[in-house]
Amino acid sequence: MKHFLSVKDLSKNEIMDLIKLAVDHKQNPGKYSQALAGKSIATIYEKPSLRTRVSFDVGIAKLGGHSVYLDQQNGALGKRESVKDFALNLSCWVDAIVARVFEHDTLVELAEHGSVPVVNSLCNLYHPCQAIADYQALYEARGNSLDGASIAYVGDGNNVTHSLLLAGAILGLKVVSVTPVGYSPDAQVVQLAQKLAAENGGEIIISNDVNDAKGVDAIYNDTWISMGDDKSLDDIKAKFAPYKTTVQLMNDLDVKYFMHCQPVYRGIEVEDEVVDSEKSILMAQAENRMHAQNAVLMTLLK
Ligand code: CP
Ligand code: NVA
Repeated sequence: MKHFLSVKDLSKNEIMDLIKLAVDHKQNPGKYSQALAGKSIATIYEKPSLRTRVSFDVGIAKLGGHSVYLDQQNGALGKRESVKDFALNLSCWVDAIVARVFEHDTLVELAEHGSVPVVNSLCNLYHPCQAIADYQALYEARGNSLDGASIAYVGDGNNVTHSLLLAGAILGLKVVSVTPVGYSPDAQVVQLAQKLAAENGGEIIISNDVNDAKGVDAIYNDTWISMGDDKSLDDIKAKFAPYKTTVQLMNDLDVKYFMHCQPVYRGIEVEDEVVDSEKSILMAQAENRMHAQNAVLMTLLK
């Protein structure tokens, strides 16, 4: 692993190694307290964040490293100076770059021109750190196993969906994507996920019907309006109403776990009662962001 821009280039073993390292980091943090000693990491944000920002900052400190936060007040990368010069300059001082950006191509450019590993901490196309943390949470919830696991993403098909589809396909899981008509995941990503699922014994189902989530281990929600989207909430609420996760839906579909990358818009994409229910593993997902990302950083920088 040279960079971590998407999960699509990883093998099943590489993803499982990250999950297992993340679990060990969670259980035995002291073992890794000097893993990034003397290393500095720039974390760049073109978009807002709570979980990503704090979990990287705190996580890097827990590995004995040092993070430098560059916020979105700097504007989109490439405005004040080119992405190429940004990458060349940062590479003079830091050992890795973590970037949350709009365009995936910005990450590709950072990786191409810089001389240090680049980690995607969300772009419009993918959210790979989230997917590793999520599958770690499902692995733990299922007694440290993903054998025969299944997950149904219900909502708007974009970055989080794409990374769940690709990682799930590589892991050989059943991943169902349920979106309103017109909000399906990217066709190229779906095609790749289907190919990877066929190679790894997984199954990808693309649907507009929540009933296709019947019997899955987990229903997974994301916000109906992503950062940078300028859709009208009233329009979206009308189109997405049948896709809201309710206690009734969780029971009707016989689903064990509720997952969400957060931020949650309580009462909009999901009922409050579901978020706060015993089935909810949201906070394990949030906590695991730090462990999963530390596993990624240790793997890239070892
Ligand atoms: N899930 C997630 O990436 O949260 P933030 O946007 O708060 O970082
Ligand atoms: N799809 C959401 C994910 C937030 C973590 C967004 O891009 O805003």
